[in-house]
Amino acid sequence: MTTRGSRHWDPERLPSQVGRVVAITGANAGLGFFTSLQLARAGARVVLACRDETRAETARAAIRRLVPEASVDVVRIDTSDLASVGDAALALSALNRLDVLITNAGVVHPPRERALTGDGLELVGATNHFGHFALVAGVIDALERTPGARVVTLGSLATRLVRLDVDDLQLERRYTGWRAYAQSKIMAWSFGLELDRRLRASGLGTRALVAHPGYSITGRTPIVRGVNEPGAGQRFVDNLQASFTQGKDRGAWPTVRAAVDAGAEGGESFGPRFFIKGAPVPQMPVGVVRDRATATAIWTESERATGVRLLSAS
Ligand SMILES: NC(=O)c1ccc[n+]([C@@H]2O[C@H](COP(=O)([O-])OP(=O)(O)OC[C@H]3O[C@@H](n4cnc5c(N)ncnc54)[C@H](OP(=O)(O)O)[C@@H]3O)[C@@H](O)[C@H]2O)c1
Repeated sequence: MTTRGSRHWDPERLPSQVGRVVAITGANAGLGFFTSLQLARAGARVVLACRDETRAETARAAIRRLVPEASVDVVRIDTSDLASVGDAALALSALNRLDVLITNAGVVHPPRERALTGDGLELVGATNHFGHFALVAGVIDALERTPGARVVTLGSLATRLVRLDVDDLQLERRYTGWRAYAQSKIMAWSFGLELDRRLRASGLGTRALVAHPGYSITGRTPIVRGVNEPGAGQRFVDNLQASFTQGKDRGAWPTVRAAVDAGAEGGESFGPRFFIKGAPVPQMPVGVVRDRATATAIWTESERATGVRLLSAS
C-alpha cells in the first residue's frame, strides 16, 4: 500500500515546477529552507510560511541570491497559535492556486517540562501537528481549486521509538521532551495517511503524502549566509557523525519528491534509501501510523483541540 513509487529518482534533476505554487511552513531554516530552495530552483513559486518576519526575509533574500529568477513570497504563521494559523490559512487561500502545502515546521528541541500554548494545548504537539491540522482544514478549498494538489506532512524515524498512548495525546499524565517530540511525529504521519483516505472517501481530488528526512544535521549542511552558519566546532562534531547522518539539503529530498513526483500516489511515504541517509525512495511506515483506530483517535483529538472540523463525515 505504501511502497508503490519507483525506486529511481534523481533529486538533482527535478521536473519543471513552473506555474506551480508551493507553501512550506518553517521555511526559514533547516529542511524547510532547503525544500523551498530546491523547489524554487525547479521553477515553483514558493511561499515561505514562517513565524518570524526577519528570519523569513533573510531566507527569501538567500533564495533570491542563489536563484535570481525565483518567485518567493512570505506569509506569517506561528503554528502553535490557532489564531495565527487561521490568518495564514486566509492568506494562502487568497493565492490564485495552491498546488502543494508542506507542513514542515516543528519544535525539534522540546522543553524539558510540559509547556502549554496560549490555546491551552501541549506545545510540541500543537506546533508540530495540531496547528498543521487546522491549517490543512483552512486551505482545503484552495487546494481543491487546484487540480492535482497535494499535502505533504513531515514524519520521523522517532515514530519507531515510543509507544503511543492515545488516551494521553496532550501528555497530561506522562511528559518527557522526547515523548512529546516522538508522539507529535506519530500524530503527523498518521494524520497524513488518514487525510489521504478521507480525501478519497469524500471524492476530493487533493492527495496527501508523507516524508521523513532520516537523520539530517546542521553541521553537515551547506553554509548559506544568514540562514545556515554553523561554527567550526559544530561542523567538526557533526562531521564525526558522517557515517550515519546527512545534511539538511539532502534531508529535504524525500519531501521534495513527495511534492513533485508525478508518479507518486496519495498515501505514499518517502524517506532516504538507507533509512537515515541517501536518495529519496518509497518507505513502509511503522504499524502505529498505519493503524486506523489510532488514526481515528488522533483525528478526533485534533478536531477537539483545534475546534476545527475537517472531512469528519467520512
Ligand atoms: N532534522 C532531522 O533529522 C529530522 C528528522 C525527522 C523529522 N524532522 C522534521 O523535519 C522538520 C524540520 O526539522 P529541521 O531539522 O529542519 O528543524 P529546524 O532546523 O529547527 O527548523 C525548524 C523550522 O520550524 C520552524 N518553527 C518552529 N516552531 C514554529 C512555530 N511555532 N511556528 C512556525 N514555525 C516554527 C522554525 O522557525 P524558527 O527559525 O522561527 O524557530 C524553523 O523554520 C520538523 O518537522 C522535524 O520534526 C527532522
